[in-house]
Amino acid sequence: MEIITDISTLRARLQCESEIAFVPTMGGLHEGHLSLVQRAQQEADCVVASIFVNRLQFAPTEDFAQYPRTLEDDCKLLQKQGVNVVFAPDDKDIYSVQQDFLIEPSPLANTLEGEFRPDFFRGVMTVILKLFNIVQPQVAVFGKKDYQQMQLVREMVRQMNLPLKVIACETTRAPDGLALSSRNRYLSNEERIEAARLFRVLSEIKRAAESGNGDFRRLCKDARENLTGHQWQVDYIGLHQRDTLAPAGVGDLDLVALAAARLGKTRLIDSLEISVKH
Ligand code: PAF
Repeated sequence: MEIITDISTLRARLQCESEIAFVPTMGGLHEGHLSLVQRAQQEADCVVASIFVNRLQFAPTEDFAQYPRTLEDDCKLLQKQGVNVVFAPDDKDIYSVQQDFLIEPSPLANTLEGEFRPDFFRGVMTVILKLFNIVQPQVAVFGKKDYQQMQLVREMVRQMNLPLKVIACETTRAPDGLALSSRNRYLSNEERIEAARLFRVLSEIKRAAESGNGDFRRLCKDARENLTGHQWQVDYIGLHQRDTLAPAGVGDLDLVALAAARLGKTRLIDSLEISVKH
């Protein structure tokens, strides 16, 4: 495995590759990222993973400084997983001049995460487009935990005619259901036990909706009350159409339950796909 930090060396290294599958990450790697790598390995002989904590997607009040930076451990995990190239640039490599050109995402970015993190997707989409331009992959793999991000990447690829395929991977979960996330390491022991409630309430919505309960508003209200009754601060919890992320209504079949909530100082997000039958 090669670890490359600058753009021109990476471009030269990748020139001979005919098919590249790409896994962008911010590091702090866990089994979830490794499952994205495994999926990428099914798609191409050359797998590139990037590790870059993108300051453009953090608000001044957020955890940019605190975000886990564990490059050495991350590289060991990626090497063990058989990744071919790790791209680990510095801030000055990616943002060598002030980044005045920014991707203005579709209106899909204004709801859910976008409502609570207004500049987040502008920063995410800008860095993803830059990384796509640098790596020039044929395939890029994203996790479904960050469902809105995954759908926005799909939409950007479609609307900007980018020559690559976006693959969405299932969320990897701890045995108690908690979605693996680099931010889980912020949780205290007590919070870590409580954190699995987020998955449990989403699972309850799924169970009820799939067994014919069409009162989505009530289901989500109950889920919210369950969380707030256990010290969570809920940003949103709702049922949405999978493709458009518009609120789900009667007759919609392919749904996704999306939630973001804060436990102590840690903000967790999760998603669960739901298939309603007629
Ligand atoms: O999901 C993430 O880890 C980040 O948003 C990404 C896609 C690596 C862009 O910085």
